[in-house]
Amino acid sequence: MSKAVAITGAARGIGLATARVLKAKGATVVIGDIDEAAVTEAAEELGVTGLVVDVTSRASFTAFLDRAEEAAGPLDVVINNAGIMPIGPVTGESDADARRCLDINVHGVMLGTKLALGRMLPRGRGHVINIASLAGLTYMPGLALYNASKAAVVAFTEATRLEVQERGVHVSAVLPTFTNTELVSGMRNPKGQRNCEPEDIAAAVVALVGRPRPQAVIPAKLARQVKIGALLPERVKRAMARRYGLDRIFLDFDADARKAYDARIRA
Ligand SMILES: NC(=O)c1ccc[n+]([C@@H]2O[C@H](COP(=O)([O-])OP(=O)(O)OC[C@H]3O[C@@H](n4cnc5c(N)ncnc54)[C@H](O)[C@@H]3O)[C@@H](O)[C@H]2O)c1
Repeated sequence: MSKAVAITGAARGIGLATARVLKAKGATVVIGDIDEAAVTEAAEELGVTGLVVDVTSRASFTAFLDRAEEAAGPLDVVINNAGIMPIGPVTGESDADARRCLDINVHGVMLGTKLALGRMLPRGRGHVINIASLAGLTYMPGLALYNASKAAVVAFTEATRLEVQERGVHVSAVLPTFTNTELVSGMRNPKGQRNCEPEDIAAAVVALVGRPRPQAVIPAKLARQVKIGALLPERVKRAMARRYGLDRIFLDFDADARKAYDARIRA
């Protein structure tokens, strides 16, 4: 795969796993993250260019893409992956948390998409991949803020795709389920469900780069379940949520085990 790819939020987790697989497949990869120490270490380990970027800032994001193109050439793929997940009761959520989450998860993705399209549309080729979440389609108690942010990413990505689809540039959304990264620390798994690993999401993203599609749900089997689930009566939906523990998962978590993650996303 001889593609030039830039990935945000790739110092760890899903972004890092994706960078690793793309590099192994022969892509020229540039990773960006707000965490300077972590992105420097990750870039050294992978043998790729690592840059500091704050996806909420137009100046920072523009400089990231400029430097990525200096290092890798015109970008074929931009993956907007940076994101955070504050959880807990909506009434306990600070305005600062809400603004930060929407700024990173929504504004960051919109900015990255616009800046990437600004480069790709004149060339008539390219692919923007936005990492949303299944949480953009299925909503749960304790997750209102994150649900709202990811629903916005799903809608924004699809509308943008429709707008540019005749101009040679692909726009896709990736919707992973629970995935074992620091983002889920302190949380129980839904009953009877195994979390994905970051490598599972990386493999799906690589497949998407090879064969662009509007949307990739991971694991793929959940796409049908979610569609059917949306049609169920409210009473059945509630019973199912209780059965899998999804009604409490984002409310009854181990706050101590989540402390380090919470501190990082608020730093
Ligand atoms: N882990 C899951 O269960 C899961 C499921 C569905 C979707 N996602 C999404 O996948 C993406 C990656 O999540 P992850 O699980 O790898 O989380 P993670 O916390 O392991 O990694 C996220 C990275 O984003 C970086 N980041 C945060 N704010 C930033 C900013 N302003 N600018 C640049 N970088 C910034 C962080 O420093 C971190 O390295 C997120 O968008 C997340 O919402 C995760």
